[in-house]
Amino acid sequence: MKITCGTDIIEVNRIQESIENLGENFINKIYTPLEIEYCNSKKQMKYQHFAARFAAKEAIFKAISEVLQNKYEITWTDVQIVNNEQGKPQVEFLNKKFCTNIEQIDISLSHLKGYATAMCVIIIK
Ligand SMILES: CC(C)(COP(=O)(O)OP(=O)(O)OC[C@H]1O[C@@H](n2cnc3c(N)ncnc32)[C@H](O)[C@@H]1OP(=O)(O)O)[C@@H](O)C(=O)NCCC(=O)NCCS
Repeated sequence: MKITCGTDIIEVNRIQESIENLGENFINKIYTPLEIEYCNSKKQMKYQHFAARFAAKEAIFKAISEVLQNKYEITWTDVQIVNNEQGKPQVEFLNKKFCTNIEQIDISLSHLKGYATAMCVIIIK
């Protein structure tokens, strides 16, 4: 068993500008339909939630790099963040080949007006 972790922080403004300038090309490249629905439901706070999910995926990529060992290239939409009934974010792999060696994965998000951050911990089998 081995534990790996990854973390990331991003300016909410940067994500807002990408969404406003690149529109659906950017959104559909980075986010899954469930993530888009969740963030858009947050109305005027939506860019914080989009930014948090961007940071979450970067954190996952950092934590998972040791699992993948350059055998597979993971893309933004191979993984999604889904909130459970309590609001806790959970990681779901849409492409199961990325989780064959993963015993457990957990993620935590936080966001303010200016910045969003995420931390991911993985237990490798
Ligand atoms: C959950 C809570 C701690 C979030 O803290 P916050 O300072 O308001 O907001 P932050 O920006 O730091 O964090 C927001 C993120 O917390 C995460 N979150 C929400 N509920 C959570 C929970 N029950 N457990 C873990 N993480 C949670 C989500 O990822 C959320 O971002 P998202 O909606 O984009 O996914 C806060 O809403 C709270 O205290 N709620 C009431 C009590 C509660 O439900 N407590 C549960 C944990 S004891």
